Amino acid sequence: ATTGLLDTHGRQATDMRLSLTDKCNLRCTYCMPAEGLNWLQKDAVLSRKEIVRLVRIGVDDLGIRELRLTGGEPLVRADLLDIIRDIRANHPELPISMTTNALGLDRRAVQLKEAGLTRINVSMDSLHPETFAQLTRRPFLDRVLKGIEAAAAAGLGLVKINAVLMRGINDHEAPDLVEWAVARGFELRFIEQMPLDADHGWTKEGMVTAAEMRALVETRFVLTPDPRNRDGAPAERWEVRSKEAPDVVLGTVGIIASVTEPFCADCRRTRVTAEGKIMSCLFSREETDLRDLLRSEAGDDAVAQRWRDAMWLKPRAHGMDHTGLGAADFVQPDRSMSAIGG
Ligand code: GTP
Ligand code: 5AD
Ligand code: SF4
Repeated sequence: ATTGLLDTHGRQATDMRLSLTDKCNLRCTYCMPAEGLNWLQKDAVLSRKEIVRLVRIGVDDLGIRELRLTGGEPLVRADLLDIIRDIRANHPELPISMTTNALGLDRRAVQLKEAGLTRINVSMDSLHPETFAQLTRRPFLDRVLKGIEAAAAAGLGLVKINAVLMRGINDHEAPDLVEWAVARGFELRFIEQMPLDADHGWTKEGMVTAAEMRALVETRFVLTPDPRNRDGAPAERWEVRSKEAPDVVLGTVGIIASVTEPFCADCRRTRVTAEGKIMSCLFSREETDLRDLLRSEAGDDAVAQRWRDAMWLKPRAHGMDHTGLGAADFVQPDRSMSAIGG
């Protein structure tokens, strides 16, 4: 009998996060250095065929029930539509979502929907052109906003917006971002900054905590816990109401408290980097290569077994908060977020 992606702490990974490229056309300060990184060579990156096979093994043999495409920026991959079409053809019911910065989405939202993409999450940290440009080092806010509109118009499910809050930069925008998102029916999530920037500039003091995020939103709105089940998701959701009319739920806002309120105990994620390495956790120091097997005569069983072996050793927790682990147990990974896959 075959089993899924179990680990020694009793979890099962059913959510596959697949990075399609390490490249990106923004340079968010919490992720990439201004000059970019040494991009992978073209033949180092998994091909469309290799990706489609890996997803098939994950879904058919390993119990994967959800797929998320990440990067870098997945939209920079030229064969993105073909990849989605091929995966959709194999798996008519699989939820396929994508985390993107939305640059170029205005031109491709309809095609993505037709290819079989289910939903998107867009990273957008500020509604002010100057702040956006400061955070991403590129003056592209208008294009991002157009991309978001196009995705909503194309029926790409519930659009979620991810905003990393940075102290003294965009934290004061929290209530404005909520107002903007609920008015448009988007689910906004505020994200605690994690130490995954290539510049190693993260500090505990610079990080806006989940408790601070709630307080910032509550300067304008009333927040109450969303009764829906969290279901292993990183975001804890809150219902948003105005102070004047507290009977009406305007929408929901999520808070992703990776550092101060970690959710590792319920983690269902397995990650594949653009060059075909399994990372059992965003912060795992071990990487397990599947690409050499995919490029050999090995059958699906061998690939599946190496993937299982990699996940079996998934760490219990990341240790950023030091719960149950010594402070010394947390080591910032060598890879930045863009090189792991959001
Ligand atoms: P939905 O199913 O749409 O809610 O997706 P999601 O929230 O899982 O996906 P998304 O790619 O939008 O991730 C949002 C943020 O959650 C990321 O930018 C990370 O900050 C955080 N995140 C995602 N996966 C992990 C993880 O495995 N560990 C930690 N600590 N944070 C994660
Ligand atoms: N901490 C938290 N989130 C991050 N992201 C990128 N780098 C970091 C970090 N250091 C988020 C982006 C995007 C997703 C791909 O990852 O905002 O939503
Ligand atoms: Fe690009 Fe995403 Fe990293 Fe920003 S966070 S530089 S959009 S990969």
